[in-house]
Amino acid sequence: MTASRKKKRWEDQSLLEINRREARTSFYGDSAPKISLNGEWKFQYLDAPELSPEGFEKADTDQEWDTIDVPSVWQMRGYDKMHYTDVLYLFPINPPFVPTENPTGIYKRKIRLDRDWLRQDTILKFHGVDSAFDVWVNGCHAGYSKVSRLPSEFDITELVREGENDITVRVYKWSDGTWLEDQDMWWLSGIYRDVELINEPKNAILDCRVDATLDSAYQNGILTADICLKNYQGTVNWRLEYRGHEISKSSVYSKNRTVHIEERVEEVKTWTAETPRLYMLTVSTEEHEIKVRVGFRKIEIKDGNIRVNNQVILLNGVNHHDFNPREGRCVTYEQIRSDIILMKRYNMNAVRCSHYPSNEYFYDLCDEFGLYVIDEADLECHGFEWVENYNWITDDPGWQMAYVDRNVRMVQRDRNHPSVIMWSMGNESGFGNNFKRAAQEIRALDSTRLIHYEGDSDAEVTDVYSTMYTRIQKLQKIGEMGTDNKKPHIMCEYGHAMGNGPGGLKAYQNLFRRYKRLQGGFLWEWYDHGVYTEKNGKKFYRYGGDFGDFPSNKNFCIDGLLMPDRSPSPALFEYSQVIAPVEVTRTEGSIREFQIKNYFDFLSLSVVEIDWFIEEEGTVIQSGIMDHLSAKPHNEEWVEIPFHSFRAKANTDYYLKVCVCLKEDVNYASKGHIISTVQFPLEITNTELSERETGEELTFKEDSHLLTIENRNISVKFHMVYGKMVSLSKDGKDYLTDGPQMTVYRATIDNDMYKKEDWMNRYFIQKSSEQTEYVNVKSKEDKALVTIGKYFGCLNQSWGYHCVYEYTVYPSGQVKVNLQAQRVQKGKLEPEFLPRIGIFMKGNKELQKTKWYGLGPGESYPDSKSASSMGIYDSTVDDLQTRYLYPQENGHRENVKWFGLYADQDGLLCKMEKPLGWNLSNYSDESLEIAQHPYEIEEAEDVLIHLDYLHSGLGSNSCGEEQQEKYKVKLQNFSMTFTLQVVDKDHFLTKARERYWN
Ligand code: GAL
Ligand code: MG
Repeated sequence: MTASRKKKRWEDQSLLEINRREARTSFYGDSAPKISLNGEWKFQYLDAPELSPEGFEKADTDQEWDTIDVPSVWQMRGYDKMHYTDVLYLFPINPPFVPTENPTGIYKRKIRLDRDWLRQDTILKFHGVDSAFDVWVNGCHAGYSKVSRLPSEFDITELVREGENDITVRVYKWSDGTWLEDQDMWWLSGIYRDVELINEPKNAILDCRVDATLDSAYQNGILTADICLKNYQGTVNWRLEYRGHEISKSSVYSKNRTVHIEERVEEVKTWTAETPRLYMLTVSTEEHEIKVRVGFRKIEIKDGNIRVNNQVILLNGVNHHDFNPREGRCVTYEQIRSDIILMKRYNMNAVRCSHYPSNEYFYDLCDEFGLYVIDEADLECHGFEWVENYNWITDDPGWQMAYVDRNVRMVQRDRNHPSVIMWSMGNESGFGNNFKRAAQEIRALDSTRLIHYEGDSDAEVTDVYSTMYTRIQKLQKIGEMGTDNKKPHIMCEYGHAMGNGPGGLKAYQNLFRRYKRLQGGFLWEWYDHGVYTEKNGKKFYRYGGDFGDFPSNKNFCIDGLLMPDRSPSPALFEYSQVIAPVEVTRTEGSIREFQIKNYFDFLSLSVVEIDWFIEEEGTVIQSGIMDHLSAKPHNEEWVEIPFHSFRAKANTDYYLKVCVCLKEDVNYASKGHIISTVQFPLEITNTELSERETGEELTFKEDSHLLTIENRNISVKFHMVYGKMVSLSKDGKDYLTDGPQMTVYRATIDNDMYKKEDWMNRYFIQKSSEQTEYVNVKSKEDKALVTIGKYFGCLNQSWGYHCVYEYTVYPSGQVKVNLQAQRVQKGKLEPEFLPRIGIFMKGNKELQKTKWYGLGPGESYPDSKSASSMGIYDSTVDDLQTRYLYPQENGHRENVKWFGLYADQDGLLCKMEKPLGWNLSNYSDESLEIAQHPYEIEEAEDVLIHLDYLHSGLGSNSCGEEQQEKYKVKLQNFSMTFTLQVVDKDHFLTKARERYWN
């Protein structure tokens, strides 16, 4: 005998709701009184819903209950456990069923309502509950709902009474909805968005759907509004205002609960992300008044391009998840507001709600500050891909209404926001009939926006062709129309900001700007999803696996432009500079003439000014402002920067720095805010050679294999067996505690994850050594010459280098180091490329301060240095580091011409013959490699100094493109020269500028 499995309420994909109200647009303003139900609730956590205590839904339960704050996710309040997976469901794939062990939270609270309140209706609104829930009011079942990232409203008028009322909510962690909520993020549950009671008038304005478009000349606005009344016959008044000025108004009599308004607005002020102009529509009846902000704009596809108000736009966007390091997916208005302001300040003009609708206020803020939004349905069933049955439920008619519900409710809620330009039907869920149906339903509701879904890879039903992490070559082909479909293209995700990186963003931007079909992309992603932790006096952030969660995708969730403490990562500066809407380039062959290209889509350059500076290695010697720019969008103009000729100091570099700044205050930044900074070398050289200082004659002393060459200015020791300079000191104090030694290794970065195995377990690049071939010591005129031949190689490798280190010790106290490295291959195998080629040496640990001349102030890498400029900068060794949550190579600076390392007065000055890459750190690369969290990085006894002839780029290969060929360091011959000297730190600059005859 077989009995069929009993379907539980939360395992029924065809049951979309019980008593939930039809979704409706969120209003910007509403006269209906509200009571927030945020705050403390009674809470009971259970291992399965069936274990609920008898009569829990009744008004009084005498059990001892915990308390929990609403909104919150219960995993961040000590219940259940934290678990992070990218793709995997945490249980067998057997939809719609979910585990019998199904963590459940029962929430209870009381609310007093007075007689006045009861004259009107009572609506209970949940803005977000993860993943499904039942509600009881005063012991009676009031409804059931799901879709974690959308609101649910219940009309509980019949259930409430004067005085105390009891509200009970039972939340299920797993439900059939979970099959559609498999986004790459922490699994979190509970009432995690606001809860409120609305005192809705009997004759309320229930809905007001606004379309605000433009006429065919894009001149005049056409406003239509469909107002839906709850129960009303009578007069509806409406008024349209612009910045407090009345534009029009009227009254309409309604007989059948609906009112249709149509109004033409002459010479309308249009909305775009660059000009977020909003009108205010007020609709009222005798009892109720609501407000909707209106932005007039028209989205179309014309001649193969996405257009806003007839202009082809370029999206410079970012993917945004709701996240907070202490609260998980529970965020606040203030946090989101500052996120959006930051996006604007860093030149972004678009945001994708990956991968679910955000809080209602998110869209208000995007309307107000100006961001184009891809609003995405709460829909992802990625785990099915990994069992090679991606369309299992996506093509199953039994799931169709679930797909439709998630999309339709999003549209019904967010359709009034001018910022929303595309509806995205979800993410990573294969493609099938359920999406086709969802597209139809969306179009039936709203034909004024475009439909997006990356999973529709042939753009069969979508309006845009969307891909993610597309490699440069393929993207170029798409740009050249080399695909079957010809729809406009966007990259819904690219540039994976995991750990150190992404690099190579400029190559993408160049393609976006070159090919009209390519309309930009959205960087992955805004925020690192690290969880704030204090443990044993240590403060740090945990990621997947740190909670004993298995399986887990570990730090794959640490992939944002913002660190969890909200500090910007270097990638944010880089991205901002790469996408900056104004580009300054120097006319070839000219020193003063510049082209200013306007990449704004709507603003002319009259909104910016140019602040220019002539810099003498970072010191400003002339400056000026040019504020008469006027180029129209997508146009350019040429300017002459009127600097005066000047006398160049000896051996000194000059640069022209150009900052493009805002001319007026805007709502996200003040006048003077820098949009873009570029620097141009002036190539004015005044080379002066001088006589190298002299000094006492050098003495030579050899003792137990140690050769000391010294006078009063310097003392250097060479180990005659190891063939190495082992120290550099003066007046008995060591400055270098170990001399140069070749290396090809860096602590691998997340973007090296697919190289790491080869590099470290096959080519053993971290296991290198040098063998001494010979040591020659000569004294030549008054200087000492130590030439050391070495063989450099890695464990069990046939490739390596013949190195000749030539040390010239001068009586002045200078030591010139020249390394000539010649590659060798006696077998066949070698790495395709190396993280770096160069040397490292060690400095005295007491020397913790530094000054350098090179790119700065932040870190820079060959394929990520747009946001750095040449200058003289100060820092400490520790402050040079970027504390990536998952420790990895960081803090590198490119193009360094000299650096000083000091404690108080005297320091070590190292100047390069040709600029080199540079790192300083208080730990070794190996300890950086091993550590899983910053506090685990083991301190070294010395300061580690790297000088790189070449350092490989970062790329975005943790998810996406590798470093471009030109940023891969190939095995190649190289040579580098630098001079070491102990100098008073106040003389670093003068000494660094000296050039010698001899
Ligand atoms: C994409 C996905 C994102 C995220 C990203 C990697 O495939 O859409 O949700 O997983 O990869 O971080
Ligand atoms: Mg996914």
